[in-house]
Amino acid sequence: MAEFAPRGTGPVGIGFVGVGVISDTYLENLNSFPDVEVLILGDLLTDRAASQAQKHGIPASGTTADVLAHPGVELVVNLTVPAVHVEISSQAISAGKHVWSEKPIGIDRASARALLDQADAAGLRLGIAPDTVLGPGIQSAKRAIERGDIGRPLFAQTSMQYQGPEVFHPNPAFLFAHGAGPLFDMGPYYFTMLVSILGPVAAVAALGLKATEQREILVGPDAGKTFPVEVPSSINVLASFEHGAQSQSLLSFDSPLRRQGFVEISGTEGTIVLPDPNMFTGRTAITRPFSHRGSDPGITAGAEQPWEDVAEEGVVVGRGLGVLDMARAIRSGRPHRATGELGYHVLDTMVSAQESAARGEFIAVESTVEKIEAVPVDFDPFARTL
Ligand SMILES: NC(=O)c1ccc[n+]([C@@H]2O[C@H](COP(=O)([O-])OP(=O)(O)OC[C@H]3O[C@@H](n4cnc5c(N)ncnc54)[C@H](O)[C@@H]3O)[C@@H](O)[C@H]2O)c1
Repeated sequence: MAEFAPRGTGPVGIGFVGVGVISDTYLENLNSFPDVEVLILGDLLTDRAASQAQKHGIPASGTTADVLAHPGVELVVNLTVPAVHVEISSQAISAGKHVWSEKPIGIDRASARALLDQADAAGLRLGIAPDTVLGPGIQSAKRAIERGDIGRPLFAQTSMQYQGPEVFHPNPAFLFAHGAGPLFDMGPYYFTMLVSILGPVAAVAALGLKATEQREILVGPDAGKTFPVEVPSSINVLASFEHGAQSQSLLSFDSPLRRQGFVEISGTEGTIVLPDPNMFTGRTAITRPFSHRGSDPGITAGAEQPWEDVAEEGVVVGRGLGVLDMARAIRSGRPHRATGELGYHVLDTMVSAQESAARGEFIAVESTVEKIEAVPVDFDPFARTL
């Protein structure tokens, strides 16, 4: 990891590039942190930058070039769409600014690696979302696992499934384009959380599918227009971790059933249920194996398993926490937490899953079974039929 000397004094000056849907929450939070000062907002759409600046009381707005030329800006918050993350982050580093980028770091390994090298050579910091995993929810779970509360972690299960972002996003096409889909859009929350807790991923295998080739915008002024689906809209990823644990993760924009933030990790001494890694807070609880030999196990059919809540420790804020951590790290010279290296490893994991899904590299299972017929609807367990 790169080493940094302490730099500057006082609040860290911030400029934004890209002020779309997610910028409101960043601006509200960063405006409430005394250690940072948002000085200017930029966007391809300068009118949007101007209206967001007015709404949030930011003193200046303009183009990307205006943000990068602003002498007070030390750290650029890159909230553009994934396809241009690397391009904008690279421009900011060339302008001598530290960068916080929304996830993913980029959409291919080569340009993301070049970005890390560029930042290292310039002695500048790169921080990559998500910062949700820095919130007290996931962090309290991480601490519990690291102090051995579930013994040695064995396997994790995660699920992120719902109908898809067109139910709330007025401009969802980019979320189904190359570099997005559920894997790249939502995968960073799950894989960043898993890597944070289980360590680096060693290998992955995946299966993906597209429910349809075209989808429809459901909200906003363009509702009713269709757009192409370029990547799998559902994907199942198996991962093995360097330290021996395994995980299975479903990421789907094709399921009417909403099940987001489902995360369980089973270890030798217990199973822990974690908060949604796309949230900063949430319940963490552990259930333990029965271990009192010879006594009544108390595990009767249908009985609720006993759960121990893990206390959530820390102050709950929201998006912008990672920027604040970076800002303080810039001043003190310590490492920041959501590093470019972590962002790159998560991207590498996701690209590898996508490659596995595209190539269909699976081990063949040689046994088979005849089709299992469905139970008829008039099957009545209470009827006398014999
Ligand atoms: N919307 C969410 O709920 C959400 C949540 C977490 C993270 N994110 C991430 O935040 C990022 C932005 O998402 P969003 O939903 O705000 O998208 P958005 O489309 O609403 O906004 C993106 C903004 O970036 C601007 N932009 C695009 N290319 C640009 C360029 N080359 N130069 C300057 N500006 C450019 C656009 O004009 C637009 O204003 C994405 O990486 C997304 O993955 C979004």
